[in-house]
Amino acid sequence: MTARILDGKAVAARIRAEIRQAVEERLRSGLPRPGLATVLVGDNPASQVYVRMKRRACEEVGFASFGYHLPATASQEEVEALIRELNQNPEVHGILVQLPLPKHLDEERILSLIDLHKDVDGFHPINIGRLAQKGRKPLFVPCTPAGVMVLLEEAGVNLDGARAVVLGRSNIVGMPMALLLIRANATVTVCHSHTRNLPEETRRADMLIAAVGRPRMVKGDWVKPGAVVIDVGVNRVEDPTAPKGYRLVGDVDFDEVKEVAGVLTPVPGGVGPMTIAMLLKNTLRAAELADMERMSL
Ligand code: GUN
Repeated sequence: MTARILDGKAVAARIRAEIRQAVEERLRSGLPRPGLATVLVGDNPASQVYVRMKRRACEEVGFASFGYHLPATASQEEVEALIRELNQNPEVHGILVQLPLPKHLDEERILSLIDLHKDVDGFHPINIGRLAQKGRKPLFVPCTPAGVMVLLEEAGVNLDGARAVVLGRSNIVGMPMALLLIRANATVTVCHSHTRNLPEETRRADMLIAAVGRPRMVKGDWVKPGAVVIDVGVNRVEDPTAPKGYRLVGDVDFDEVKEVAGVLTPVPGGVGPMTIAMLLKNTLRAAELADMERMSL
């Protein structure tokens, strides 16, 4: 059996086209251009690439993009002052603080300071808290897990009652992913570095979401035949034949798993483009929330 490969790039392109159209309509009807501010602290090379991609995606759909790059030595007070300023700026509808932050900074305090209505990453403790509670609605859902949910829908999978296994428990992906799957009525197992007999757990999954950051960790015999496998991992591995000297691979051993799974996402071109598409969607929503707030004043 060879898995159907889900083209996240194509799905994301369709969403971006819809957003571009929505921006044009907004501008025609005199509504403000949606704006996203990105905050990057330090020189983590992967973070620099991600922020550049996010800013470029904003410009392509007609958003305003405001980039802030602080040195790795920036103080907690400096970062907090910037967030307060961006909270007040009416041209900024969404604020994205790229993670991870340098170790000396208090990430939780910084994320808590973001205006709830501008929290397009969905990492504000109130948004995460709402995601974790029945009957509550977060204003924004974290972008990568939200993108995975769209891909699962594209794959035509029925989550209701399905066994889902999430590999990884990070604040950015694993945890909110598990919460979203629970909300969709899946039976969810979260596996991590202390899980005993990992392959036995993953083989039970009707859908397996790999988000651990270990290159090609998930092997063919870790997967139930016909399962839906979503690879969130983006790992740099050395490759002297590649132009940059490295190549991107996922957490899933693609060549092995494609022979077992029913549906599989590639890396690159799977979840990555969906993360950015969801960020754009959240930013458009933030602009719409600001419209409503203005109109009710
Ligand atoms: N670092 C890795 N993924 C993400 C993300 O989705 N948002 C932010 N802000 N930082 C990240």
